[in-house]
Amino acid sequence: MSRLAVLTSGGDAPGMNAAIRAAVRSGVSLGIEMFGIRHGYSGLIAGDFLPLGPRDVGGIIELGGTMLGTSRCPEFLTAAGQETAVRQLVQRDISGVVVIGGNGSQAGAYALSQRGIAVVGVASTIDNDLAGSDVTLGATTALGIALESIDRLRVTASAHGRVFLVEVMGRTCGYLALMAGIAGGAEAIVIPEDDQSPEHIAAAIQDAYQRGKSHAIVVVAEGARHDADALARHFTEHAERLRFELRVTKLGHVQRGGAPCPFDRLSASLLGAAAVERLVAGQYAILLGITGGELSATALAEVARSGKALDPKWLKLARTLAR
Ligand code: ADP
Ligand code: F6P
Repeated sequence: MSRLAVLTSGGDAPGMNAAIRAAVRSGVSLGIEMFGIRHGYSGLIAGDFLPLGPRDVGGIIELGGTMLGTSRCPEFLTAAGQETAVRQLVQRDISGVVVIGGNGSQAGAYALSQRGIAVVGVASTIDNDLAGSDVTLGATTALGIALESIDRLRVTASAHGRVFLVEVMGRTCGYLALMAGIAGGAEAIVIPEDDQSPEHIAAAIQDAYQRGKSHAIVVVAEGARHDADALARHFTEHAERLRFELRVTKLGHVQRGGAPCPFDRLSASLLGAAAVERLVAGQYAILLGITGGELSATALAEVARSGKALDPKWLKLARTLAR
């Protein structure tokens, strides 16, 4: 293997840059010519490649986002798109690709590997919804940003005796909301995996005030059936009976743009370097992640067919601590 490429795909995640840097430097140290592919699968199909040496990836370990750019690429879902992508690699004599991204991107990595390309994935998304990794690159940084916001909101919520609904990202996964809710001391947590009615949440808030709390923070996952808008609508419709003074904050993309925390920088460095080493060692069609605190490798076939369930111990803890 003399030429390898690296791309970032899907939602950007803090740590992607550190992973690119590690992959490039690890490849060069092994005598491999390294290339970056701009804008994920879109750039792969369009042939948007650039040679990368150690100096080209300097000064990025501390930056969020991705120096290569990323995309959502509907064309890559088609057979024609994937065939073009393979052609672009073969034409350049690039025999392997490191795909840094979330579950959609790793489904794409699997598709590419089914077409004969050597691919190693690096688990990277703030959603932490990817089977094959306890924690994905970016999720810990995004959690830190959500927590910082929740801490600030609690100060003003407490001063006014208000209820704050704080909506966090995560697509259909409740990981970020659950962890932010537990670590942020929320009075209630609403996630897709634990559907609760607005009246149930209202009762939890009333109960919190009755127990002497001066405010209530409800952390809501964007993918919950009753998201922040739905809950706010219900509480407003029943305002006279419920008597909450309510405010809604949607954290949105703020959670995605932060500088990677130490854990994400270290994990990204480990996984990015290992991805190239695995390719060189002839170990393909795998996703690298962190499991039990160690680097782990899982077949992309398995990753593509399984979802990730939340660990029930966190749900149980959330219910116990929201007192
Ligand atoms: P993430 O990787 O962050 O989950 P997406 O779900 O948007 O982000 O996926 C990123 C890209 O991966 C998609 O735009 C598409 O190009 C590709 N992709 C997603 N699912 C598949 C699939 N089943 N087969 C092939 N490519 C896919
Ligand atoms: O997958 C990462 C993520 O930030 C999700 O949490 C969110 O639902 C989605 O991407 C937002 O996507 P976009 O940036 O395309 O609006």
